[in-house]
Amino acid sequence: MIDPKDIDFYSLGFNFIATKTMFMANHKNGKWEDGKLLPFGNFEISPASCVINYGQGIFEGMKALRAKNGEVTLFRPAENSKRFNFSARRMLMPEYDADKFIDAVKRVVKANEEFIPPYDSGGALYIRPILFGYGPILGVHSAEEFKLIIFTVPVGPYFPEGFKGIKLEISKNYTRAAPGGTGSAKTICNYAGTMLPAKEAKARGFSQILYLDAIHLEYIEEVGAANFFAMINGKLATPRKSGTILEGITRESILELASKKLGIEVEEREISYRELFKDSCTEAFCSGTAAVITPIASVNIEGNERIFNDQEPGEITNKIYKLLTGIQRIEIEDEFGWITKV
Ligand code: PLP
Ligand code: COI
Repeated sequence: MIDPKDIDFYSLGFNFIATKTMFMANHKNGKWEDGKLLPFGNFEISPASCVINYGQGIFEGMKALRAKNGEVTLFRPAENSKRFNFSARRMLMPEYDADKFIDAVKRVVKANEEFIPPYDSGGALYIRPILFGYGPILGVHSAEEFKLIIFTVPVGPYFPEGFKGIKLEISKNYTRAAPGGTGSAKTICNYAGTMLPAKEAKARGFSQILYLDAIHLEYIEEVGAANFFAMINGKLATPRKSGTILEGITRESILELASKKLGIEVEEREISYRELFKDSCTEAFCSGTAAVITPIASVNIEGNERIFNDQEPGEITNKIYKLLTGIQRIEIEDEFGWITKV
């Protein structure tokens, strides 16, 4: 483990760095054992474990932020707990009590306090709760033993561009999720399949793929690790909850901020990628815990490019970014009750 004093918190990217402590709880014989804090480290697992063989695993992504006054905040942790349990049910794994989940998150954050990046670095302590089928199996069915772990990593921006526009490629070759599948659960399986498309898109000079729906290859879904928004005809539009997008907590918060704080009409609907190429679409961005709000400089499909706002963050993108990060860093009043102090 690196000594936190040796970390340059001002130049962090989104890369793994071991921190001091993790939380671990086991589910055996049909019930959860009391979890405990342990030094971050490796553990043994059977080669026949369900997660390794069949991908029975889920995760969450959260952040602890250091505010200007030194306090440490979490953003809507109850929503992460809810989604964690939704994902657990979909992957046939046991749920974990919401209060215990939030308590465990707080304990891990406190135990790793020295790794929380300072306020003025703009970084965060990323929190990664995972749950997986630990026990050995052979046929395709659930494990009987499960492990929940929560670990943390100090991070900077997810996209190295930071709050600058990223270039996205709209793919007609790959899709991320199909109706009836697992797209709205935060299961590890959804991510492995996006690695090859992302690598190919990066080789062509794009930051990521903008995925379309699997049936028509027409309607925008999301960015693979972030949700999508665009200003179209003066309204803030985002793909509707179709069962195939990950229903982001940042997404939900942005919809509330735009309508209640900025007075912008919001629309959750099917958005054809063709709409992005019209003048009525004036700006676009993506959102997520890791991505925060990342402006989209351009989208490209089969060589046709649409540049937004001279590649600069748009006016509404800027406003929403300031509101969201202001609330998260307790510089703007938390009138929605989104902040939990650690
Ligand atoms: N979409 C995907 C596929 C994600 O992995 C994430 C990140 O969690 C998001 C969207 C954004 O979700 P949230 O805002 O809850 O972080
Ligand atoms: C997050 O925003 O927390 C995510 O889960 C994205 C991740 C896959 C890096």
